Amino acid sequence: MRLLIQKAQTSHILTRDEIVQILSCQEPQLLFEAADRVRKEFVGDGVYLRGLIEFSSYCKNDCMYCGLRRSNTHAQRYRLSARQIIETAQEAVKLGYKTIVLQSGEDLFFDTDKMCQIIREIKKLDVALTLSIGEKTREEYAAYKEAGADRYLLRIETTDKTLYEKLDPAMSFENRMRCLHDLKELGYEVGSGSLVGLPGQTVESLADDLLFFKKLPVDMAGIGPFIPHPHTPLGNEKTDGHFELSLKMMALMRLLLPDINIPATTAMETLHPQGRLLALQCGANVIMPNVTYTEYRKQYELYPGKVCTGDNAAHCRGCMQAKIESIGRFVSPSKGFHGDFLRGN
Ligand code: 5AD
Ligand code: FES
Repeated sequence: MRLLIQKAQTSHILTRDEIVQILSCQEPQLLFEAADRVRKEFVGDGVYLRGLIEFSSYCKNDCMYCGLRRSNTHAQRYRLSARQIIETAQEAVKLGYKTIVLQSGEDLFFDTDKMCQIIREIKKLDVALTLSIGEKTREEYAAYKEAGADRYLLRIETTDKTLYEKLDPAMSFENRMRCLHDLKELGYEVGSGSLVGLPGQTVESLADDLLFFKKLPVDMAGIGPFIPHPHTPLGNEKTDGHFELSLKMMALMRLLLPDINIPATTAMETLHPQGRLLALQCGANVIMPNVTYTEYRKQYELYPGKVCTGDNAAHCRGCMQAKIESIGRFVSPSKGFHGDFLRGN
């Protein structure tokens, strides 16, 4: 194990079998320490904060794992107006955020024109802008880019095509791949990622996920444990081991893609009270605090037990900074593009 981790730390290359071996290891301490060293060398001690606006909980899709799936009739749906979205972004900028992330279900109400207007308004605030609004046509992606969007988040969720299509039979794995390649070609910083612990998911397929992120290559990748939502078909699944396996995935990602941005995801905090801090110490360098108005946070229920749903943007900003500083790190004043630290920004 020591030799394998040594190899990954210096060459940033592992075979599928080697990744499987490390993911299956019962003593991940050496892996975590190596990831922390590589993180410090390639992205430094600064943590990038991204202000997350969850602007619509409507979704036309029906992913079996997701609380926003259209068949979930228990879900309360909301949709912010363009004005509310822009005001939320302005408040986030006042709190010091240098990146705004706009996330929603796949909500057809926000057509290309509406999205582009919102993007243009937010870009006037001198921030980096990330979109996380799902699968669109190449033309739509091009229009958002033209309007000023810098980055796009679209998790592949799993690279196991059979499993992917089982999780939403109406969705196509090829189309998701097409989206990621289009986004790359259009010049976005591309973020992808996986869910860890999906029923039927194997460690081999998790190894394939990591190799896929390296091949694309991604500029960012978020790993989140799967947390069953009671009002979905997967509501009775377990979460045993998902937290530890997610940490290992994150740490391996840092070794394989040493300079990318890796968020300590909110889902990690749902499964462990110190989840995000532990992730920051196992390779992660980004946190995406919620800046959505408190009254809507509970309704954006991807999974149960989401943290901070009773808090407001200012509270979370202060809370996160204190947590980050408690482990000897600091909030970076940079916009935090891929490679900024190595370029001295
Ligand atoms: N548990 C954890 N993460 C989830 N997501 C959706 N449903 C769940 C769940 N039940 C994640 C997906 C999606 C992101 C926005 O939220 O990976 O890409
Ligand atoms: Fe929201 Fe700590 S980040 S309360």
